[in-house]
Parts: sequence; structure tokens; C-alpha cells
Amino acid sequence: MFNLGAAGNETKDGNVGTHKTAPATRAMPKVASTGQSLGATIEGLDLAKPQFSEALDLILRALGQYGVVRFPRQQLSTRQFADFSARFGMLEINVANTYQAPGIPEVMILSNIVQNGKPIGLADAGQGWHTDMSYSKVIAFANVLYGVKIPQRDGRPLGATEFSNMHAAYDELPVDLRERVEGMTVLHDFNKFWEMMRREKGSPRPPLTEAQRQAKPPVSHPIFLTHPLTRRKVLYANPGYSVRINELPQKESDEVLEFLFAHQLKPEFRYAFHWQEGDVLMWDDIGTIHNAVADYGPDEHRLIKRCQVMASMYYGEQ
Ligand code: SIN
Repeated sequence: MFNLGAAGNETKDGNVGTHKTAPATRAMPKVASTGQSLGATIEGLDLAKPQFSEALDLILRALGQYGVVRFPRQQLSTRQFADFSARFGMLEINVANTYQAPGIPEVMILSNIVQNGKPIGLADAGQGWHTDMSYSKVIAFANVLYGVKIPQRDGRPLGATEFSNMHAAYDELPVDLRERVEGMTVLHDFNKFWEMMRREKGSPRPPLTEAQRQAKPPVSHPIFLTHPLTRRKVLYANPGYSVRINELPQKESDEVLEFLFAHQLKPEFRYAFHWQEGDVLMWDDIGTIHNAVADYGPDEHRLIKRCQVMASMYYGEQ
């Protein structure tokens, strides 16, 4: 569990927030931890309504502390979903420029549904361990996803999203390796994940065009980042986009990255989120990596709306 130190304000029943400043008439939402390496549920918020600053503060504290936060039973228009997400920072318009919600390009549709012979969304988003937008000069702060349609089989939800805790991965690194790579930088390339999907998962996505590649050339970020919410260090590398450690010779870089990719997925760092329709799930892109589990078939329909919140207000360009 993350330690928020003096900034934290967690009560014995699991509430986190600014109770002292909340007006007596406004009920504070409840935060309940999963008790695992990551994850909490926040009950008592209707995200269709504009949120008070106390609620936004509570959400940010929970995000720092638990990494992955679920808001159950939401009913949101696409506009309301985008407005809620935008309270946490600037929203990205995805480089692939496809499957955007009509008139609201900052909302991307992830779905395997085909209507009139045409896919309505990106069917294979995130199917491999990664963190969103590590390939970008301004990295992502958080993902916000809204589960509209979740496939089920034998009464069980399919299409889970798995996470791994990068605060824990940093803390548990062998000390000699941590000291050796401290201050180094990692090169991240959007095309690595894209090509992996085409090569290994049979994705029908076409190769990126030259214009798309030029829009997102490979970029470097420090191998360890100080997390803007917890002020603790995290391991900021991921198998999806990280291609090399700039300051090491190629062979050594390959060996260290191979070690890091295995280390950061240790079972004790992991948490699997099982969706229910109406869930809004918000996760920390700096302190976690994630993987979308593709265990459902083409007739088992999944429809998720996604916003990506940029970290520009915390870091700017790395
Ligand atoms: C993503 O990587 O943003 C998609 C995750 C999911 O669909 O479960």
C-alpha cells in the first residue's frame, strides 16, 4: 500500500479525504480498498454531476494511494464522461485518429462490436503489458474508462484489465541494480506495441503511416520518476513501449530491460479488475502498468469508452 504520509487522511472505515473542510450537509463518498496490491472502490458519487472540489481531492488521494479506483453503477452520456475525465487534466486525442466518439474526439471507443460490416471501435486495445503514452513527450497521468457493455460467460465477466504496481516494483528492485541505473533514461517507441500487436496477436491494424510515426517519434524519460501524488519513486519502464536504456551499451540494455520486464510483473505486485456494466475505472498511468485480457470471442461483445488524462500539469515535457 502507498503511504501518503502527512497528506493522507484515512479513517478506520477506509475513508480518505478532507472531512474537516467538507460542509456538514454534504455526505462524503466512501473509499474501500480491495486489500490487494492495488485497487479501491469509491461509493456515493454520481459522476454525471459536476464534482465538488472535496470529491476531486478525495479521488486524487485515493488514486495515489490505491492506483486503480472504481466508481460503480454510473450512467453517463459521452459528454458527461469526457467532462468528468477533464477535471483531472488535459485529455489526449489519440495519435491513431480512429474510433473517436462522434463530435468528442477525446473519447475513444474500444469495442469488438461490428455494425453494418464496420467495427465501431478499436477491438484489441491494450492487449499486452504497457502504460499508456510513455511514448509521448508529455506522458499520461491517468486513464478513465467507462464499461458500457461487458461480455459474460457462465455468469462470469470476461475481458478483465490487469494491473501491476510500479511503486512496489521500484521498492523491491535489487539495490545494486537500482543504484547502477539511477539517473539513466529509457527510450519509448509507440511503434513497438503497434508492431507487436500485428506480429504476435494477428491484429488487423495496418502499419503506422509515416505521418503517424512522425507525430509520435520515440522519446526518452527517466527510468525512475517521482510520482506527483505520492512523492515516491516508481519504475517507469514497460514491456509495451520501452526499447532501450540510452546510457548502456545495447547488449547490457537488453539484459537489464529483460530483467525489469520480468521483475515488474511479479505476482505480488499484480491486481486483476473484473468489470461490471456501469463501472467507471480510473487508474494511475505513472505508478501502474496494465494489460487488457482478451479471453472473449467476437460474439461476446465488449464496449468501453476511454479518456486519457495527460500529466502536463505535473511534469510538462520530460
Ligand atoms: C487500455 O489499455 O487502455 C485498454 C484496457 C482495457 O480495455 O481493458
